[in-house]
Amino acid sequence: MHVAIIMDGNGRWASQRGLPRTAGHREGAKTVDKVVEAAARRGIDTLSLYAFSADNWGRPRGEVAALFALLRRYLLSQTPRCLERAIRINVVGRRDRLAPEVLRTIEHSEGATAHCSGMTLRIAVDYSAQHSMLQSCRRMALESSIERSRFKEHLAEVDHAVTVTPDVDLLIRTGGEKRLSDFLLWECAYAELCFVDAFWPDYDELAFAEALDEFAKRERRFGQIGTPGRVPARVNHG
Ligand code: FPP
Repeated sequence: MHVAIIMDGNGRWASQRGLPRTAGHREGAKTVDKVVEAAARRGIDTLSLYAFSADNWGRPRGEVAALFALLRRYLLSQTPRCLERAIRINVVGRRDRLAPEVLRTIEHSEGATAHCSGMTLRIAVDYSAQHSMLQSCRRMALESSIERSRFKEHLAEVDHAVTVTPDVDLLIRTGGEKRLSDFLLWECAYAELCFVDAFWPDYDELAFAEALDEFAKRERRFGQIGTPGRVPARVNHG
């Protein structure tokens, strides 16, 4: 089971309290801790969190710096905890625009947890699905055959993913907006979408459990005709 989360609403959470937007991100980082724990406890195989999109570079310099500081602090403080829980950390997205100290921290966390066989925690940083797909297409253009499986391998390489990314089963977006914002567009082809109004700092284990319960009730047909109690396998069409 692959769950992806667009953690939206930090800024509005802070504004409502008369706080700077960075206070919302700080509070949001605490929610990350809680949801990662909850996901690992509930046996989720892969959890993808959208921490910084390629378009987020357009935010004020101070906010960008605060987000990267939070990411580093998270990785430094939570890597030992992930090790205890056999969680493998993988930061996905571009790496050519990251500061050297951010890159070092990412490589340290990934290296330290590389042997972990529990949940894979994928944190998307400087990520754009459209950019990843374009880069994969450019690589495909240099090859003689065009196979779906090869495209997925290229995607993984471009994203610095440790394995070919499994399709997303459930995508959750907090903060009340109903859009995908360039997150895992290929992988979400058949994702069940769950939009919740709560701002990310107010999201919690209970809300996460509710999303999983709702997912369990959905009938997934993958374009086929449903048979009660049976999830059809996806058709392989090249
Ligand atoms: C979107 O809310 C959120 C982000 C751009 C950053 C998400 C970052 C965190 C939750 C904390 C750091 C991450 C980790 C993995 C430790 P927004 O700022 O766009 O909110 P708004 O729509 O209310 O303005």
